Amino acid sequence: MQHSSDFKPHATAIAQMFEEAFSTSEGPEEGALIGKLARDMLSDTPDTDLHVYTTWDGATLAGAIIFSRLHVPNDHRSVFLLAPVAVAPDQQGQGVGQSLLQYGLSEMRREGADVAVTYGDPVYYGKVGFKPVTTETVPAHGPCRCPKVGWRNP
Ligand SMILES: CC(C)(COP(=O)(O)OP(=O)(O)OC[C@H]1O[C@@H](n2cnc3c(N)ncnc32)[C@H](O)[C@@H]1OP(=O)(O)O)[C@@H](O)C(=O)NCCC(=O)NCCS
Repeated sequence: MQHSSDFKPHATAIAQMFEEAFSTSEGPEEGALIGKLARDMLSDTPDTDLHVYTTWDGATLAGAIIFSRLHVPNDHRSVFLLAPVAVAPDQQGQGVGQSLLQYGLSEMRREGADVAVTYGDPVYYGKVGFKPVTTETVPAHGPCRCPKVGWRNP
């Protein structure tokens, strides 16, 4: 398996993989929604506000994660939202997700990111350094189905 930060030539494959992974786990409606979200993010977000990391099994895309910049009023730190996160269904359960998250976070650290936030299983994200945060610390636009977690560049 190989990790990469060069996503532009692979934008279509990345969006398709998100759609497939979320269709398999959450159903086709959610899959289509997340596929469109990824497609829109990859095409519309300015370069300085977007970091995308992927894992490859030869020429096959095994996983992808997207960090996009969060603008926090009165806070000059470099803050990113980690979402969406997915591993191709036939590659899950083999450590691809954890390895890709470790790679992505170390690249974000190198790029000077101060904070990353996401939402999901605190146990899963805790293994790569995330800690639970409250909605008072990181407000949400709407109700979150999953707990929120945050990562700080040490
Ligand atoms: C969640 C996901 C990214 C995990 O990737 P993965 O490569 O299968 O995970 P890894 O092999 O690195 O890690 C496996 C561990 O994660 C756990 N795990 C797998 N999916 C999980 C999930 N959805 N929630 C919590 N834990 C999960 C496994 O039980 C396993 O635990 P163990 O190491 O204690 O045995 C992948 O299952 C996926 O793409 N799911 C569909 C999309 C999704 O749910 N994305 C995340 C939204 S927050």
